[in-house]
Amino acid sequence: MENILSKKDLPQALESVATPCYLYDFDILCATLAAIRREVPENDPSYRVHYAIKANGNPRLVKEIARYGFGADCVSGGEVKLALESGIPAERIVYAGVGKTDAEIEFAISEGIGCLNVESLPELEVINEIAGKLGKKADIALRVNPDIDAHTHEYITTGLEENKFGINLPLLPGVIKRMKEMENITFRGIHMHIGSQVLNMEPYALQCERAMQIQEMFEKEGLTVESINVGGGLGIDYDAPEANPVPDFKAYFDTFRRNMKLREGQTLHFELGRAIVAQCGSLLARVLYVKEGVSRKYVILDAGMTELIRPALYGAHHVIRNLTSTSEQSDTYDVVGPVCESSDCFAKGEVLPVTHRGDLIAIRSAGAYGEAMSSGYNCRSLRPAIFVE
Ligand code: LLP
Repeated sequence: MENILSKKDLPQALESVATPCYLYDFDILCATLAAIRREVPENDPSYRVHYAIKANGNPRLVKEIARYGFGADCVSGGEVKLALESGIPAERIVYAGVGKTDAEIEFAISEGIGCLNVESLPELEVINEIAGKLGKKADIALRVNPDIDAHTHEYITTGLEENKFGINLPLLPGVIKRMKEMENITFRGIHMHIGSQVLNMEPYALQCERAMQIQEMFEKEGLTVESINVGGGLGIDYDAPEANPVPDFKAYFDTFRRNMKLREGQTLHFELGRAIVAQCGSLLARVLYVKEGVSRKYVILDAGMTELIRPALYGAHHVIRNLTSTSEQSDTYDVVGPVCESSDCFAKGEVLPVTHRGDLIAIRSAGAYGEAMSSGYNCRSLRPAIFVE
C-alpha cells in the first residue's frame, strides 16, 4: 500500500491500513512549524531553533522540518548524518551527548558542524586531540549542568546536579582553565538543558538567570560567549491533543525574550523535540481480542511497548480513541499490548465505546519518542509510517 494518504480519503482509507503503524498528519506538523516561525522568523538575527532529532528521526519528517529552515540538535553520529542527508546545513547542527565516540567526533569535526556541546573535561581533551590530527579547530560549547529542577518525571529531568549530563558548576573553573590552553578548540558558548515535558515557564525564567550568571564566569576569564543554548523541553498537552495540537510557543519564547538579556551579536539557541513532532503522530493499532478477566476487561492490541514505550517506561498516559466503534455505550478496559511483559500496558481503567475485535484504535501524541524509541523486542518487526497530507 502507498504510504501517503490524502486527507479527503480519510477515514475510509484507514480501514485497509496494515497495523500497527505510525500515522503522521502533515497539517498538524506544518501548523506547528509555522507557529514557531511566527515567534521566531527565519531571519531573526538572535534566535535559532534546532529540531532535536532524538524525538523522531523519521527522514520524511526531518526533511519537512528542514524546509522551514530549522537547524538540528543531534546526540549521535547517526543523527548528524541524518540531519545532513535531510538538507540541514552543517553549520546549523549542534551535537551533544555524554558518550561521543572517537569516530563520531571525527565525523562531526570533518563535516564542519556548528558546535559540539561538550559534556566533560576528558571529552574536551579527546576533541582537542582529534581536531589536531585533522588539522582543524573544533567549534565547541561547554554543556553546563545548571542544577535547576524542571519539575518533571525523574527519568526525563536532566539539569539536576545528580544527573549525568553536563559539567557541574563547581568544576567549571578548572575546565575553563584547561580549555584555554588547548590549541585546537574554538570556544563558542554555553549549553544547558533542564529537562523534558516542561509546562511551567518558571524553570525557564530561572534558567535565563543562571545562564547570565554562568556567562560572567567565562567573561572574567576573557572569553566571549557568542552563543547561549538553552536546550529544549517544552511540553505538550497529552490530555487534550485534539483541542491543543499546537503548543503555546508564544508563552515559551516570550519567557526568554523577557528574561534573557542578550549581549550585542549574541545568539540564543533552542533545541525543541517533543513540542515539534508529538501531536502530529498517532500510533494506529487493531484490537486483536477483548478478553474477560475476573474483575477487569482487557482490550488486547496488535501494538505494544515495542511501538510506544512511554507508558511502560514513564507511566505516561496517551489519549486512546476507538476510531471505528459505532456503539453509544461505553465500557472500562485495561488497554494492553501483545508483548511478554506486564508493563506492556497503555492504560488501566480506560473508558472506551464498547470495543470489539477488529476495531481500529489510535493512540494520540505518539509523534515524539514513539517511533524513535521503538524496538524489536520479542522479534517484532519494524512498523511502517504513513503520512496524511
Ligand atoms: N536537548 C537536549 C540536550 C536533550 O537532552 C533533549 C531531550 C532535548 C534537547 C529535546 O527535549 P524535548 O524538547 O523533546 O523535550 N524519551 C523521553 C524524553 C527524553 C528527552 C531526552 N532529552 C520521553 O518520551 O518523555
